[in-house]
Amino acid sequence: MSANIIDGKKIAQQIKDELKIKIDKLENKPGLAVVQVGNDPASQVYVRNKEKACQKAGIYSKVIKLKEDISQQYLIDLIRQLNSDVKINGILVQLPLPEHIDSNKIINTIDVKKDVDGFSPISMGNVLIGRPGFISCTPRGIIRLIKSTGQKIEGKNAVVVGRSNIVGKPTATLLMRENATVTVCHSRTVDLVQHTSKADILVAATGKPGMIKGDMIKEGAIVIDVGISRVNGKLKGDVDFDSAKERAGWITPVPGGVGPMTIAMLLQNTLEAAYPNE
Ligand code: GUN
Repeated sequence: MSANIIDGKKIAQQIKDELKIKIDKLENKPGLAVVQVGNDPASQVYVRNKEKACQKAGIYSKVIKLKEDISQQYLIDLIRQLNSDVKINGILVQLPLPEHIDSNKIINTIDVKKDVDGFSPISMGNVLIGRPGFISCTPRGIIRLIKSTGQKIEGKNAVVVGRSNIVGKPTATLLMRENATVTVCHSRTVDLVQHTSKADILVAATGKPGMIKGDMIKEGAIVIDVGISRVNGKLKGDVDFDSAKERAGWITPVPGGVGPMTIAMLLQNTLEAAYPNE
């Protein structure tokens, strides 16, 4: 059997097209501020992609690039200004920040109504207790991809490999909210295969390229690969695609799976920040 490929690029494009139609009708366009500190090459690419996606969707974007050595206080003051800027509905501070800056303090300074990344403890807490609030873009995109298969999540065994604050924990929480039975595995899990081989839904978010092999996957499972690593100049996911596609029922490719969804969800969160009651 060869798995159905979940085309994240196409699904993300459909979402972006729908958002653009809605945004075109608005007199006051949503606004997103993206703050980048330093010149991390990966961050440069991510920030450029976010800016381009905003332009295409008709979202006003303000990219603020700061030198590596700015003080923490300078960044806090900037965020406070953005918090009270009526043209700005969403604020995103690109991570990682330089070591002399406390990321938690910075994220905590963002007004929770503008926290379109969903990284603040209040946003995360709202997700945990099922209250309205911003859902982090990647986990939100993952749930959309799973739903795109048309399969029910309720009652399924879902296994999330990886327990990061940005992906693993919120994804596990959202799957629980969808009434899946959720197991979270991580680097100290004993006998990983025992868990992955029972997963109807398997989300791999470890950052270890190719670590999930076909023989670790349940026949017919939905496999979502969040990993993206550069190996010998090629982008590789956490799932060994060639062996996994022979076992899975559905699988996301890397690139072109989860990645494009993250930006689509950022645009959606920004629109929702601007028009919270619609
Ligand atoms: N760095 C890598 N991914 C992300 C993201 O989704 N948001 C932010 N703020 N920083 C990141």
